[in-house]
Amino acid sequence: MKKHLITSAIPYVNGVKHLGNLVGSMLPADVYARFRRQLGQLDGSETLFICGTDDHGTPVEIAAQKENTPVAAFVQHWHDFQADIYTRFGLSFDHFGSSSSPQNRILTQHFAQKLKDAGLIDVRTQTMLYSKADGRFLPDRYVEGTCPKCGFGKARGDQCDGCGSVLDPTDLIEPYSSISGSKDLELRDSKHLYLKQSQLVDKLRTWIDAQNWPNLSKSIAYKWLDEGLEDRGITRDIKWGVPVPPEVFGDDFADKVFYVWFDAPIAYIAATKEWADKQGLDDSAWKDEWWFGNPDVQYTEFMGKDNVYFHTLSFPATLIGSGEPWKKVDTLKSFNWLTYYGGKFSTSMGVGIFTDTALELLADIDNGPDYWRYYLIARAPESDDSAFMWPDFQAVVNKDLADVLGNFVNRTLQFTHKNFGNSVPASSGNYTEADQACATRLNDILTRYTAHMENAEMRRSQEALRELWVAGNEYLAEQEPWKVIKTDKERAATILNLAIHMIVLYARAMAPICPFSAAKIIALFPELPAPTSMVPAAKGTPAHINTPWAWPRSLKDFHATLPSLTTFQLPEGVLFPKIADEQIADWESRFGNQKV
Ligand code: MF3
Ligand code: ZN
Repeated sequence: MKKHLITSAIPYVNGVKHLGNLVGSMLPADVYARFRRQLGQLDGSETLFICGTDDHGTPVEIAAQKENTPVAAFVQHWHDFQADIYTRFGLSFDHFGSSSSPQNRILTQHFAQKLKDAGLIDVRTQTMLYSKADGRFLPDRYVEGTCPKCGFGKARGDQCDGCGSVLDPTDLIEPYSSISGSKDLELRDSKHLYLKQSQLVDKLRTWIDAQNWPNLSKSIAYKWLDEGLEDRGITRDIKWGVPVPPEVFGDDFADKVFYVWFDAPIAYIAATKEWADKQGLDDSAWKDEWWFGNPDVQYTEFMGKDNVYFHTLSFPATLIGSGEPWKKVDTLKSFNWLTYYGGKFSTSMGVGIFTDTALELLADIDNGPDYWRYYLIARAPESDDSAFMWPDFQAVVNKDLADVLGNFVNRTLQFTHKNFGNSVPASSGNYTEADQACATRLNDILTRYTAHMENAEMRRSQEALRELWVAGNEYLAEQEPWKVIKTDKERAATILNLAIHMIVLYARAMAPICPFSAAKIIALFPELPAPTSMVPAAKGTPAHINTPWAWPRSLKDFHATLPSLTTFQLPEGVLFPKIADEQIADWESRFGNQKV
């Protein structure tokens, strides 16, 4: 039996993420996971969807210090804050863990030990700038000074924003700490652990050759391999991180931690252990079942393109280097950037829309998160970057959700109600050529839709979903039950029966992309099992919505898994309230409507 392990790149814990982060990994991963769970009801496969926060590293340590907060408390605050936002977006993680968990400390130290045993760890001495005032070594980007090339006064130790030159911190004239401003810096030696990735090049290449990844991911991976993979420093002189065990690596390492990019991907495994531990399951539940040598597991990772190196080379180097049969990625889905009017979404510059703000803007609409989900999937930056623009957002939502789908549901149910009350009119069983043609058309779309979902092709999936809705609209417009009913009530009943079944079909088919709206539609049919909450919601926010319904792989599968439908209720209020021009004008003036 197939098992689908799905992970999304774990977001840095500090602060709120913007919509670009959401669309570049977590949201498509969620759509795919929801699809897999629904398909699992047909083919018996299991799905596990894991994410969490990326808690370690210098920026987190410094941000906490600036707020005079202990770093663990700072991390916990932002972890909970982000988890709450994702719950409200309907992201259906089976577990949202933390890279600073005890589980990850144990696993990260385990991998380091195994790599050492395999002879893949070197100790090397680095000479770095040390700030006495700050009491710490300064990572390159925390050193500033005058650029030796162009004279720009605020060049960073890694790069000059004045002329673009790549720099070494020791190149800077009059360097100072950007944390404290202190100029009292000196060069000090420090020992670090290096993972000898250069010795793993052949093994990595053999493994990558055998992979069936999308082009973007594969070409990025080969580029790194062709340029020669460098050994990588996997420790840092900071306090916040997974401690390097001195009993394994010696007293020189007593005050050091592993580099954040070493422990973060291991947190996928550790968060799966958190998931098992939370339920009181033993180690086989996360290890043998999912991560360690189970040939039935198909592992799919979602990420932004800046993450490809880490997921195709450095994390696999850790896994392969350990010499143990850890699960490595089978399918890798990487995304380009969502831009804000062609410019960069930027957390530090406050450009673009943050996930919490996005939810607030549509807080009056109970399925408002679906507006974002649907739009972002429609514009997923798959083959290229794609631009967020307010009028485009409005057009997609108002046309597709309100006009095409909302209108179909509303027209069908209102008209049926007027003529048949709350009962679903029975079909005569006599189907016309037009009925057959519509069924064939729906079936074709479902076949394509399923294939796109299986390949995690987001835009194509959304297009197929929209085609399903359009097919229903056209059917209704051509069959004109409002005219037919005047002369042939039985035929009108058959048309409406088919249209009502299409509504239910749409709810199931849209559930991965628009789970809240699917649930609203499902709730109109008392005979259909209600969606369940999959995991407890954080802080009293809406629960994750999991439709208990099988994926409509074909009309046959759809009907085979459908209880009989005899009654329905009219929706209360509008299913998809439109976004008004005034709202768009307001948001444009608030967030800007051009490239910055
Ligand atoms: N926090 C990183 C980012 O946002 C992603 C880490 S993914 C992992 O780019 F694989 F390292 F876990
Ligand atoms: Zn310069």
